[in-house]
Amino acid sequence: MKSPRKSGLDPKAADLSQNTTEAGPDDDLTSNQGLRVNDDQNSLKAGDRGPTLLEDFLLREKITHFDHERIPERIVHARGSGAHGVFQVYESLEDLTAAEFLCDPSLKTPVFVRFSTVAGSRGSSDLARDVRGFAVKFYTQQGNYDLVGNNMPVFFIQDALKFPDLIHAVKPEPHHEMPQAASAHDTFWDFISLMPESMHMILWVMSDRAIPRSLRMMEGFGIHTFRLVNARGKSRFVKFHWKPKLGVHSVAWDEAVRISGADPDFHRRDLWTAIENGDFPEWELGLQIVEEKDEHKFDFDLLDPTKLIPEELVPVRRVGRLILNRNPDNFFAETEQVAFHPGHLVPGIDFSNDPLLQGRLFSYTDTQLIRLGGPNFHEIPINRPVAPLRNHQRDGFMRQTINRGQVAYEPNSLGQGAPQQAPAAEGGFRSYAEKIDAAKVRARSESFFDHFTQARMFYISQSEAEQRHIVGALRFELGKLTTPAIRERVVYLLSQVDADLAAQVADRLGFRVPTKVEGPVNRSIPADGNPKAFQPKKANMEVKPSPALSMAETAKETAATRQIAALVADGCDEGQLAAVRKALAADGAQLLTVAPRLGTLTGAAGKEVAIDFSLHTTPSVVFDGVFIPGGPESIAALEKNLDAVRFVNEAWRHCKPIAATGAGADLLAKTDAAEAASGDEAEAAEIGLLLGRKGSAAATGQSLRDAVAQHRFWDREKTFVV
Ligand code: HEM
Repeated sequence: MKSPRKSGLDPKAADLSQNTTEAGPDDDLTSNQGLRVNDDQNSLKAGDRGPTLLEDFLLREKITHFDHERIPERIVHARGSGAHGVFQVYESLEDLTAAEFLCDPSLKTPVFVRFSTVAGSRGSSDLARDVRGFAVKFYTQQGNYDLVGNNMPVFFIQDALKFPDLIHAVKPEPHHEMPQAASAHDTFWDFISLMPESMHMILWVMSDRAIPRSLRMMEGFGIHTFRLVNARGKSRFVKFHWKPKLGVHSVAWDEAVRISGADPDFHRRDLWTAIENGDFPEWELGLQIVEEKDEHKFDFDLLDPTKLIPEELVPVRRVGRLILNRNPDNFFAETEQVAFHPGHLVPGIDFSNDPLLQGRLFSYTDTQLIRLGGPNFHEIPINRPVAPLRNHQRDGFMRQTINRGQVAYEPNSLGQGAPQQAPAAEGGFRSYAEKIDAAKVRARSESFFDHFTQARMFYISQSEAEQRHIVGALRFELGKLTTPAIRERVVYLLSQVDADLAAQVADRLGFRVPTKVEGPVNRSIPADGNPKAFQPKKANMEVKPSPALSMAETAKETAATRQIAALVADGCDEGQLAAVRKALAADGAQLLTVAPRLGTLTGAAGKEVAIDFSLHTTPSVVFDGVFIPGGPESIAALEKNLDAVRFVNEAWRHCKPIAATGAGADLLAKTDAAEAASGDEAEAAEIGLLLGRKGSAAATGQSLRDAVAQHRFWDREKTFVV
């Protein structure tokens, strides 16, 4: 075996390297007991045609291990992709927090990040309409700190007691286990239609945020209000944000559906490939700080996880940078076995009383006890801290640590009292001493009852295209239901948010917006039987939009890491191909050739052109844009190829930039872009159709690069009905 590489690694990589192993070319195969194996082809038999002998301990060992290779998948967030990286704060935040990794700008804290979908099984598609998990484990010198967030800043429910109901409703229905990784079914919307508190989150999950272009192009949010506490014991409220360097971008719904078929691992592959290529994904950590005295100054409750603090009210201060720079060595050992927990804290960070967060604090360790098979999963390499770990916890399944000595209790004198409690001044964790004087009740504060105002704020903050996509998503999801009464209840709730939104959805579902619904809007009536107790307040229709909530406002400065397809066949213009490739590469974007077959082709000037993908295997949905170089022979071949025509049609429908040089524009005449391509070039460019019939290919390449940075030309949708 090769000896593990240890020097020059960050502390967590060095720690993991103690457990990594890889067979070298000269290594012999062994059993799990280290016995060198002579024959791994044949089991031990009574004669070469006889029965297998029970004695065959090598067969038994190999098959037994195989039989036990699977562990339960996560009850939620089962499908995930992980990566290692590093976090560094820009300047000391010691005025805000005692957390050392946020106070020392010279510290490079190793992290492991796992992104996930929520509803689907481990093998489900990456492009399901869903919230994305964004969980970060910081291996700090003071112990592990986990920021276990999502890519949306609010949540469906206000109290953890409803979490099992929410998840039972969204998971495949229990009688026939359908549908997989989809919310478009009766039980989910039945639950939602009776839970008006979910309306804000529903608009987020019906928005394009639920179908990201890339895990590298998502925001992250801690959602709950947490506390930062400085060394003097002063506490402030905080909301955590992650802001991606590449901006926030999504795909079209029709595209998401097709990607799920063409490449269900699309997001996982994108993350993996970017890191392998050295295009390390980056985010900035952002903080929204609220002084304790301002806790009640908002018209929503800071403890309510269905609410966000608009960035226009409390700006996001960017305080540090996260870079993901290393793929895991082994998916199971790292991405599958990692165990996050919102209760993994370091001094300087603490909880608020958000009732959803409080329930989470119980749930994670509890589920990991069964998922990872016992109480020692903190010893699994990906989970163990780089900070020293010493306590009197002992034994249990799969215990790895060999604790020496007689003493496993505290207080003790036989072990000189060790290990000792650490004074707070030396980094011992102390919970924030919040003063509480209250009756023990099962109740919800009335300050949690405005379920519609922020839902409205989100909707009116969206661009026209984003609103159109929300309407489309609701029509799709509700259109899939088999129980009309559920649709009507949901549309009624939507009408409490925005009348026009409700009317547009109802119109396609074939009914009028109901003016009232049977029974109380919220059927979760508390045990005291008071139907009014949980009823939502009317929305404040005058609420102002929050521009920061629109993806249209996101950074669109770069085409870096984007992949553009060049549609080619024999006889394509290799000069134009090279010029556009160069223009895209100048901004870090890649031009990849897609042709009717694999191998190489011969360009118009006789040069050999390597083919990256074949039209048989690779549709345009996995690219960010399309370029069609000229070359009459190439275009004549592509015009006759239905896959090539569909390739362009799909890119057109999904509002991606499409550029053509020379005769390349002739192919467009056979596609859905024909009308736009035959009209005014400047008008076509406005909807991302770049026609370089005469100009230089380099200039078209530059326009294409700028168009790719813009991401999509959603206004194009107005030219066709979706
Ligand atoms: C703001 C609300 C919530 C957020 C942002 C959130 C986020 C996450 C994330 C990101 C994961 C995946 C972690 C990973 O990659 O391994 C996860 C897993 C999980 N969450 Fe939550 N969650 C929320 C609410 C809840 C609630 C209310 C509960 C239960 C009361 C809960 C229970 C779980 C469980 C049991 C897992 C599986 C953990 C494992 O098997 O390791 N979550 N959650």
